[in-house]
Amino acid sequence: MVEDSVQQSMNEENTEEYRRRAIAWALAFARGTRLEPTDQERLLLERFARGELALTQIEDMLTTPVHHLLYCSQARPGLTHADVEDILKESQLYNVKAGITGLLCYSEGGFVQLLEGAQEAVHTLYAKIKRDARHHGVTTLRDAAGTERWFAQWSMAFTEASPLEYFWLVSHLSPRGSALSLPQVPITDPQLLTLLHAFRHVHVPDNPNTCTN
Ligand SMILES: Cc1cc2nc3c(=O)[nH]c(=O)nc-3n(C[C@H](O)[C@H](O)[C@H](O)COP(=O)(O)O)c2cc1C
Repeated sequence: MVEDSVQQSMNEENTEEYRRRAIAWALAFARGTRLEPTDQERLLLERFARGELALTQIEDMLTTPVHHLLYCSQARPGLTHADVEDILKESQLYNVKAGITGLLCYSEGGFVQLLEGAQEAVHTLYAKIKRDARHHGVTTLRDAAGTERWFAQWSMAFTEASPLEYFWLVSHLSPRGSALSLPQVPITDPQLLTLLHAFRHVHVPDNPNTCTN
């Protein structure tokens, strides 16, 4: 009987409603103090509320310095939208466990992806991604310590870009790309704008840019 009620209370604690109440309660206490969460902490708490992250994972993500890996690549000819969906599902499952967040952008024929997380976790994943036959011409655009997670609320955000947007994006993320001058930024997607804001004109390691055809 006692065990049943303990079990029941544990189940209740594991509901989204309970987690949201607990967060609201903690936020009320922190309001106006130095413990008030930052925007990034709020985004992670939102993932906790949805049941996507445990508190220990959030603690890890906040205390481990973030590493950014940005690359572009060319999709295997004949790659379908269903293939891209498979990649995304696979990514989201693995990345939650590995504490990785980021953005995958796909455009007919090309990818740009940002991986952010602990350096070792990011490099382990990137080594697997580079071997993946679903794309080629993988070109590193950034591989460096960062100051913050730009996509903390996503295990892997996804957005699709038009060929023009893709070309423009890669050109502006890579000083070696042939920058396309247009009177206006042809990008309106908020996630791509975040990527541009964070990484535009970053230093590119010495390898040829093979992403844009
Ligand atoms: C463009 C692209 C992006 C990918 N992004 C991820 C990712 O963010 N996380 C992930 O776990 N797998 C990602 N993958 C899949 C990996 O390449 C690989 O299939 C997966 O890590 C399983 O590898 P394994 O079978 O060697 O464990 C991506 C693949 C491609 C082609």
